[in-house]
Amino acid sequence: MLVKAVVTGNYPDGFNIAREVNAEVIGITEKVFPDGEQYVRLDEPDKVRDSTILVISTMYPMQDQSLLKLLILADALARNQAREFIGVIPYLAYSRQDKVFMPGEPVSASTVLRILKSAGYSRLVVVDFHSNSLLSDFKSYLVNILVSDLLVKAVVDKLDKPVILAPDKGALERARFAAESIGLDYDYLVKSRDRVTGAVSYAPREVSVEGRDVVIVDDIISTGGTIAEASRILLKQGARRIFVAASHGLMIGNALSRIMDAGVQRIILANTLSSRLEHPLVEYVDISSRIASVLRELIQA
Ligand code: R5P
Repeated sequence: MLVKAVVTGNYPDGFNIAREVNAEVIGITEKVFPDGEQYVRLDEPDKVRDSTILVISTMYPMQDQSLLKLLILADALARNQAREFIGVIPYLAYSRQDKVFMPGEPVSASTVLRILKSAGYSRLVVVDFHSNSLLSDFKSYLVNILVSDLLVKAVVDKLDKPVILAPDKGALERARFAAESIGLDYDYLVKSRDRVTGAVSYAPREVSVEGRDVVIVDDIISTGGTIAEASRILLKQGARRIFVAASHGLMIGNALSRIMDAGVQRIILANTLSSRLEHPLVEYVDISSRIASVLRELIQA
């Protein structure tokens, strides 16, 4: 089936995804009005009629603007009689507020999913979605792509007696996915976070890291606190070297120096965001082909 694509969210890597599925890219004009409101227009509206359109965008940085752009684009696509439009959103923002942690909170991740669905997106294709509970609630709607295997493979040749670790039990699936595809050991750390102070503490896990290279696999690096803390503990427990593989490297503020100060050798990130950190110890893995192969299956189904 012939598909077409619209790429937005300042995500140039989205054009690679479109190219890999042979989707014709329909241009859009985007601007911001003087008062800060956003504007978008399909340059060739006739081209969307009766077509399946992939709307490819990331949602970091500028999470709120990206969300609104996706909503108004959906309106333009529906008005111009697109047959179907699929959101291809490697980083879906707000995913970490996936439950009510303290009374009075919203479940923001669910809100975002529901508004994208009600805007008309028939499916959402995402990378390494944070929330296991919402993956199950939205299982016929969300297509979640794991890439931890690609990230670990980028560094595996450099490792000695490697073990893949998730920083908590909830992250175990992505560590297992990477480890089993390469044939390595894996485990998780038992982490708890004080919801008021944010302080993180760990209890011991089962696999010994003594004398081994560890790859910590996580979905998001935000402030770097989780990785820094886990790395320090693992090095104290005798780990030889620490590598980090994460799908979404937000790397807020001094996250990089925090992680490096904790003794991490190298950080491997997927290209799911429109921002990149240029640093000799940070490496990006292009996951466009993985996304494209999932899209091909989805479109043909
Ligand atoms: C938490 O559940 C996530 O999977 C990440 O571990 C967390 O968001 C990382 O945040 P930070 O880098 O601020 O510790």
